[in-house]
Amino acid sequence: MNQPDLPDHPERREFLVKAAAVGIGATTTAVPLLAGLATLFDPLRRKAGAGELAFVTTLDALPADSAPRRFVIVADRSDVWNKYPNVPIGAVYLRRVEGGKVEAFNVTCPHAGCPVEYRAGANLFLCPCHDSRFHLDGRLASIHSPSQRDMDSLEVEVRNGAEVWVKFQNFEAGKAAKIPLA
Ligand code: FES
Repeated sequence: MNQPDLPDHPERREFLVKAAAVGIGATTTAVPLLAGLATLFDPLRRKAGAGELAFVTTLDALPADSAPRRFVIVADRSDVWNKYPNVPIGAVYLRRVEGGKVEAFNVTCPHAGCPVEYRAGANLFLCPCHDSRFHLDGRLASIHSPSQRDMDSLEVEVRNGAEVWVKFQNFEAGKAAKIPLA
């Protein structure tokens, strides 16, 4: 009986075996290669659970006269090979206000992303890049400020009467609306 699908010739059989080997080899190479590329383009991926409130400091670290203090925000990061504990991911200004409450602002200027500075003598926040000015409660302080919005306020909680917890978040620069970045 004639079986046209089964190769009779050794050359044809050998060709098919080699083709299968090449296919398997390509597949086993592609998987780790793609994983490596993903890591290369996103080397410090956000740890699951990030974006929640995190402990930053205690109330007694904040001046009673409502002057702001700057705090670096750190978080754990990891890639496919390593874990990186306490990586700086940004900074906030915290200030104590009436009623034992705390205000929190991202230090990043909403205009184009420079770090805003606290000027104690002038009692305001000033961005050195293009001169945006903000009151200490985060509101724009000058109609000439290039920033189209106030400083970006952040969610903050005082827990157990003393612990200051902040939900750190970045927002799109250069927009009038406060749009969270993923
Ligand atoms: S980046 Fe702050 S004023 Fe432009």
